Amino acid sequence: MTRQLITSALPYINGIKHLGNMVGSMLPADVYARYLRQRGHEVLYICATDEHGTPAELAAQEAGLPVAEFCARAHDQQKAIYDGFRLSFDHFGRSSSPQNREITQEIARELQANGFIEERAIRQVYSVADGRFLPDRYIVGTCPFCGYDKARGDQCENCTRVLDPTDLLEPRSAISGSAELEVRETKHLFLLQSKLTDEVEAWIAAHGDDWPVLASSIARKWLTEGLQDRAITRDLEWGVPVPADTWPELAAEGKVFYVWFDAPIEYIGATREWADATGGDWRSWWYEADDTVRYTEFMAKDNVPFHTVMFPATLLGSRQPWKKVDYVKAFNWLTYYGGKFSTSQKLGIFTDVALELLPADYWRYYLMANAPESDDSSFTWDLFAATVNKDLADTLGNFVNRVLSFSRKRFGDEVPAGAPNGDAETALGEQIAELLAEYEAQLDALNFRKAAQALRALWSAGNSYLDVTAPWTEIKTDPEAAARTLRTAINLIHLYAVLSEPFIPTAARTIRDSFALADDTRTWVSADEARALALVPAGTGFTVPPVLFAKITDEDLAAWTERFGGERA
Ligand code: 2FM
Ligand code: ZN
Repeated sequence: MTRQLITSALPYINGIKHLGNMVGSMLPADVYARYLRQRGHEVLYICATDEHGTPAELAAQEAGLPVAEFCARAHDQQKAIYDGFRLSFDHFGRSSSPQNREITQEIARELQANGFIEERAIRQVYSVADGRFLPDRYIVGTCPFCGYDKARGDQCENCTRVLDPTDLLEPRSAISGSAELEVRETKHLFLLQSKLTDEVEAWIAAHGDDWPVLASSIARKWLTEGLQDRAITRDLEWGVPVPADTWPELAAEGKVFYVWFDAPIEYIGATREWADATGGDWRSWWYEADDTVRYTEFMAKDNVPFHTVMFPATLLGSRQPWKKVDYVKAFNWLTYYGGKFSTSQKLGIFTDVALELLPADYWRYYLMANAPESDDSSFTWDLFAATVNKDLADTLGNFVNRVLSFSRKRFGDEVPAGAPNGDAETALGEQIAELLAEYEAQLDALNFRKAAQALRALWSAGNSYLDVTAPWTEIKTDPEAAARTLRTAINLIHLYAVLSEPFIPTAARTIRDSFALADDTRTWVSADEARALALVPAGTGFTVPPVLFAKITDEDLAAWTERFGGERA
């Protein structure tokens, strides 16, 4: 068994994330981590809040809190929501941790020692009223090409042209609206990525073919355009300080590293946080990790360049034996009725609100069954309700309840014995073994939509078996045959509980808990066990669980489309 290192892109600290963020990184990473643990791998699933940068400072300002306190609170808030979604992080850290500070500074020193960092003076826009340098996108003005009066300094949203802040007519601060802007000289550290282009290219040539096209094509496009040297420090209050032992002058001026420099390093930082808390060995995962460590990263497509080109360039330039990614699982966008989910404009469904409406399993299953893998995918309330009602409430939930209720009514609180297996059971066993192989293959390949389809097909197979055997009729003429059917169906239910856990962990637990099986620590089933359907022997006690999934009603749908916006089909 390999050791599996899994990370999902670090959610930014400045607000509650929406379902689009969830499906593009943390949720699929969790499904994969759970699956691999169940298959017996040693898994380390790491994530953290990404806490530095101008948006964090501005969000803190808006909340009227010191930035450290704002981040501490916002971290706890996000963590509580991810617990609610049953995300099984081994550690959910903070990029503002002392561990990350130490590694970020260390890597920067190594880059300097290896000749990949240079100090340069640049001219940048300073807002006198705000008392800060303004990143390009915090300068707004009139677009010189189309006349749009809210164009940002990096790009005009109206005509999509890429801009330089000095192109804008009547520029002003997006923070205060002040037009009192000056261009001031300021010194920064630059990472000389241009010197690392060949190495990154060679590294991608060696590994990129294994990645999904979405990730490898974005990485190659960035390389074709050539790697630019990049400023990796900023004039901000909050961030990893530039170390004084290496850059005394810049440290005295209060420079901090750019958020995109220290954020990916936090994958390592958070592993050290985990190690400090648990006594785990962070080095064996990250530093001189041997071939048994396989590292998989999950992210939305806008993050791909940072993870496939810039972070590897940083690690390569350090000349230290850092583990680099083996597989990059990238996602397209989840849209809300074809439009953008947006944190800043509060559009779409946010993770805290989602959990107020329904338990996590509903969202987990829907999101993964419709994951934006090969293309963008659109959230609509109608599709959500149809998926929940058909797959979860009918195909799985109703199957579990009607089989267990009927068996209890006719045969009592223990799994009935009944007749030996016949042709229908042999055919069912074959089908289940085949579908299990398909489910495993899709999860191994990180094809989450297809894996969800295979899981749904497993649930459907139980329903088809009951249609054929019809125990409600059998009981009248052949109670032994009815008992056999129920024994088999109850075994299917247990198998569903084991196999469904990566997608719907809460319901899977509830189903497992309805069996009085001594020492039921099983985490997966083999093909032979799937074929035999006999892991729950006759005589095993069971209870009937409460309804697993409530149906979404027309009234719910009407209320939610009204509340969140969206059309009815
Ligand atoms: O895109 C984002 O939301 C970033 N906070 C992701 C960072 S991922 C990693 F590099 F830290
Ligand atoms: Zn324009």
